[in-house]
Amino acid sequence: MTATESLLPALRAAVGPAGLVTDADQLRSYLVDWRGAYRGAAAAVVRPGSTEEVAEVLRLCRDAGVAVVPQGGNTGLCGGAVPDASGRQVVLSLGRMRRVHELDAANQTITVEAGAVLQTVQEAAAAAGRLFPLSLGSEGSATIGGTLATNAGGTAVLRYGTMRDLVLGLEVVLPDGRVWHGLRGLRKDNTGYDLKHLFVGAEGTLGVITAAVLKLFPAVRSRATAWVALPGPAAAVELIEVVRALAGDRLTGFEVMSRQSVEFVLAHAAGVRDPFAQPHPWYALVELSDTLPDAGLAEVLETGLGEAFERDLALDAVIASGSAQVAALWALREGISEAQNSEGPSLKHDVTVPVSSIPDFVERTDRALAAAVPGIRVVAYGHVGDGNLHYNLSKPVGSDDDAFRARADELARVVYDSTASFAGSISAEHGIGVAKRDLLADYEDPLELELMRGVKALLDPAGLMNPGKVLPAG
Ligand code: FAD
Ligand code: MLT
Ligand code: ZN
Repeated sequence: MTATESLLPALRAAVGPAGLVTDADQLRSYLVDWRGAYRGAAAAVVRPGSTEEVAEVLRLCRDAGVAVVPQGGNTGLCGGAVPDASGRQVVLSLGRMRRVHELDAANQTITVEAGAVLQTVQEAAAAAGRLFPLSLGSEGSATIGGTLATNAGGTAVLRYGTMRDLVLGLEVVLPDGRVWHGLRGLRKDNTGYDLKHLFVGAEGTLGVITAAVLKLFPAVRSRATAWVALPGPAAAVELIEVVRALAGDRLTGFEVMSRQSVEFVLAHAAGVRDPFAQPHPWYALVELSDTLPDAGLAEVLETGLGEAFERDLALDAVIASGSAQVAALWALREGISEAQNSEGPSLKHDVTVPVSSIPDFVERTDRALAAAVPGIRVVAYGHVGDGNLHYNLSKPVGSDDDAFRARADELARVVYDSTASFAGSISAEHGIGVAKRDLLADYEDPLELELMRGVKALLDPAGLMNPGKVLPAG
């Protein structure tokens, strides 16, 4: 019997029979990621119902030397929430810890358990006339714990920042079972090191986030959304400046998509249509929002687009009239990730470069990839207002899936070397997980890696919290 199997009775006693999953059929969905790109094995999934139960589980695992893999909505794109193949790790799902504890309207905060689904938190905020602004295509499943652990970004970072900017306090269970009660809702707190930021973006390698205090904002009462056809990424970068100069921080979203990305959505998603009669090389989805009900945002967009046409930055444009049209435009953007999965392996590269370098990055990297794989389909899109491109790759039409997949590492090098040459980052918002772990040794500053290893050794000396994720061996 393995150490993990011997531990199961004690885990069952800690979380109750309903909190321990060992049945092979029920385990399955916890052991593979959303894309089916990462698969693992586990003797059990433990589903604690409270912070005390999480603490007891971690104490038991520490004493038995069993590794723990925290899991939220399992929508992560880097394999961080999937156990390894040994079958000896335990998955700790936060799926039963979904409560909204408190909404403090005057303090503009909401306190929630880590397993709360992002959309539930958005809805709770909206019911109180507030906004929780983090917005992702996966918001119907992604959890607050997972979005914190990956420092998720999404489509409103331009205005509100990433999850790191949206958190005021955390409760975390450390790998030895001690609970750090850092659930403070203070906007000013300079009492030494700001420890919560260690756990944000740590992808479950330093402890289990069990609850968080998050910032709220006034509800948005008006919105204007435009879909703009562009000659290329250089026009997109100029258009951001045109709109920002007029709208200031009412510019909430600036998403950019290549024609290839939109074609995949048109081919595979239900009920979508091209807003224009003819195809164009690139598109931008521009969104302004305001807390005033009648803020004249459509006029601001019209002025910006007028200037864009005069300067040949825009080839065509439509401003959405009504919420159905807004949703239809966003469906073209949000559908890309899923649509690309229908075209065979999707080799994902979530990179950032300075916004000003986006056009040169695209031009140089496209060229290098076309030379490496004639006919390769670059699916470039993303949060260009943040300098963040999802520079994803699909195989040439009619070619073999496995042959393309076999070249994933070589093609990733092409993309990341190009990213590095623009002083960019190989992970903008999805994290490292296992997908990029071994690349960190080549692309991360050695001193930064050394400091990260020191933090890991301090908090998790036995190396039992999500081992094999984020940090390369060494
Ligand atoms: P999981 O996938 O369960 O876990 C992710 C990581 O966090 C793992 O390492 C896990 O161990 C750790 N973890 C989970 N919960 C905890 C916890 N309570 N304590 C400690 N560690 C924990 N991401 C973006 O940033 N921007 C996007 O625009 C975006 N769009 C997406 C669109 C689609 C269609 C999909 C499928 C994914 C998208 N993602 C995006 C990626 C993903 O949704 C985010 O990474 C999200 O933050 C993951 O949340 P989750 O609850 O599913 O976490
Ligand atoms: C998105 O913004 O759609 C996702 O972060 C990108 C992806 O799924 O690759
Ligand atoms: Zn994204």
